[in-house]
Amino acid sequence: MTGRSPQRDPAVEEDLGSLRVKPSPGAAVRISAAAACEEADRVEIEAEGCGEEELLLPTTAGEHSSPRVNKERWSRKNRLSSSSDKENLSVSGSVGGTGDLNTFPEDPEFYEIIHRAEQAIECGVFPERISQGSSGSYFVKDPKGNIIGVFKPKSEEPYGHLNPKWTKYFHKICCPCCFGRGCLVPNQGYLSEAAASLVDQKLGLNIVPKTKVVWLVSETFNYNAIDRAKSRGKKYAMEKVPTVGKRFHRIGLPPKVGSFQLFVEGYKEADFWLRKFETDPLPENTRKQLQSQFERLVILDYVIRNTDRGNDNWLVKYEKPDENCDVVCKDSEWLDNKDPVIKIAAIDNGLAFPFKHPDEWRAYPFHWAWLPQAKVPFSQETRDLVLPRISDMNFVQDLCEDIYEMFMKDKGFDKATFEKQMSVMRGQILNLIQALKDGKSPIQLVQMPRVVVERSRSGSQGRIVHLGNAFTQTFHFKRPFFSSW
Ligand SMILES: Nc1ncnc2c1ncn2[C@@H]1O[C@H](COP(=O)(O)OP(=O)(O)OP(=O)(O)O)[C@@H](O)[C@H]1O
Ligand SMILES: [Mg+2]
Repeated sequence: MTGRSPQRDPAVEEDLGSLRVKPSPGAAVRISAAAACEEADRVEIEAEGCGEEELLLPTTAGEHSSPRVNKERWSRKNRLSSSSDKENLSVSGSVGGTGDLNTFPEDPEFYEIIHRAEQAIECGVFPERISQGSSGSYFVKDPKGNIIGVFKPKSEEPYGHLNPKWTKYFHKICCPCCFGRGCLVPNQGYLSEAAASLVDQKLGLNIVPKTKVVWLVSETFNYNAIDRAKSRGKKYAMEKVPTVGKRFHRIGLPPKVGSFQLFVEGYKEADFWLRKFETDPLPENTRKQLQSQFERLVILDYVIRNTDRGNDNWLVKYEKPDENCDVVCKDSEWLDNKDPVIKIAAIDNGLAFPFKHPDEWRAYPFHWAWLPQAKVPFSQETRDLVLPRISDMNFVQDLCEDIYEMFMKDKGFDKATFEKQMSVMRGQILNLIQALKDGKSPIQLVQMPRVVVERSRSGSQGRIVHLGNAFTQTFHFKRPFFSSW
């Protein structure tokens, strides 16, 4: 254990279903959405050219480009993971579909939702760009036009090469040091979104709408002129000279990889409700429910070290009990007989999993730390939920391995950087364990000295470094320059 300088961190289903064969869990048997739209060509994806598919294609752990990675013991053997079989690279649909890129054998429900999104796109119900925000984010619809998810393509992230928002381009070119987040791996926001959902599920928090890495293609996405011209040329050749056209493995625009988060209905930005509750206080039991949900948000953000949790990046759903109803409206009855009437959804988790703690100049505080809820010690309910899991070293190791399997599929994956990301996360977990054991509040948690827990290097052979199972804790006591604590 090494001490450093002094400080406290403030960081602070659907009718179209009848048109296809329903897959059994683990199987990807279906009539393609193209058939639903009276298009029946099946073509294969081709990893070529300058298109999106070059960025990343699903691979199995053993196929990853880095030989070093293959030798590491990070990934668990024979794990079923999404989009990981090479034979699944065959793609359906004459407009460059993504059908078999998206296989979720472990989650048939999610598979079903993604398939509906693919059907909608093939039928011309395209994802719609969300006007606000700094990146290319899209509301994805089902064939009836209902919003079912939010898709954030890797290439359209704030610093992705196809980001559609010119202001971000301006930042990137003119003043990258002032706008970028130096503690984050650039252009891996989609992985952060999906990993946040994984952490949420593994900790049993249940506040992040399910998010996974998904491939989608749509003409409403931002493509460069070359990809659009190639697509037009191939379509033209297919129509005019079918024998030549058939030589193209993929016709249409290249699929984009990104995060797909389920859309949650009836939620509003936290800011809206927090202001309302100030003037119109909640009944006691509902307030307790909000407090419990809030604690889960704190735990999620703290573990993943989210650097972007403003009060616009979490949503609240509140259904006020019917005042005319005598039986269920008595506050105590709500708790006993009904689901919570108030729920939090932690969205926009793309700026988390830093490889180092934010520095003295850019602290990226958790904005919830200024709320009165942050002064209340963690409840016994939250401690009982989280402590047994995070106190188990095997649980933490499993979590790191699951995140590894997700991250290592990105073309820009770097093993050493990933180790650092996990060192930060382990440090956060260590502090959280202590805070929960000591009955601290969220504000006290964020004031604890920052700590990183690194895996020791147990030796090296040539350029291959073996990582052992011993851990070293390093505390950072330096106080950030911009801090209110
Ligand atoms: N899962 C979801 N369910 C419902 N609404 C959502 C969901 N995700 C995002 N939204 C809505 O879309 C808006 C933009 O989402 P989000 O903040 O994730 O996108 P963004 O492009 O990262 O924006 P920004 O750069 O402003 O953070 C949110 O404020 C919210 O209203
Ligand atoms: Mg946002």
